[in-house]
Amino acid sequence: MPVEAWYMDNSDGDQRLPHRRDPNQPVSPEELQKLGVLHWKLNADIYETDPQLAQIRKDKGYSYMDIIDIHKDRLPNYEDKLKMFFEEHLHLDDEIRYSLDGQGYFDVRDKEDRWIRISMSKGDLITLPAGIYHRFTLDETNYIKVMRLFVGEPVWKAYPRPAEDFEIRQQYKASIQ
Ligand code: LAC
Ligand code: NI
Repeated sequence: MPVEAWYMDNSDGDQRLPHRRDPNQPVSPEELQKLGVLHWKLNADIYETDPQLAQIRKDKGYSYMDIIDIHKDRLPNYEDKLKMFFEEHLHLDDEIRYSLDGQGYFDVRDKEDRWIRISMSKGDLITLPAGIYHRFTLDETNYIKVMRLFVGEPVWKAYPRPAEDFEIRQQYKASIQ
């Protein structure tokens, strides 16, 4: 099953709402792939023993993993973190997230700098390439449990936009031309 994505409307309303255009303007997996965004649909109920997840981790070298619960009673500094997650930023490494329960939205910029909203729900494993501008929000259910994966020792540092001077940003832009 492909991941669902669409171009966002330009309204200022609640970030947790879908923000679809009218009519809806879907974005295909191929278009996401051109931006370097990859997706797998896995069985999150068996993540502890899932051979498919193990294979992806082996192929991609995702040696590190942890699990965080983004929920107001379980994540320290919940409000601050949500605010940070929704500020447009990039990283020097790929961002790899796997929803084990609950859902949220990843927003990524396309080539023309438009926002694409990617719906992330239980079983979706998504990778965002290093250098892509993006942000994250919960939806109206206000809860997601995500596995964070990383190649080697994790670095979570986020660089807010503008971050054009980073070599990784220039490399990323060249890669989508
Ligand atoms: C992160 C997501 C929220 O950097 O983009 O953790
Ligand atoms: Ni990020």
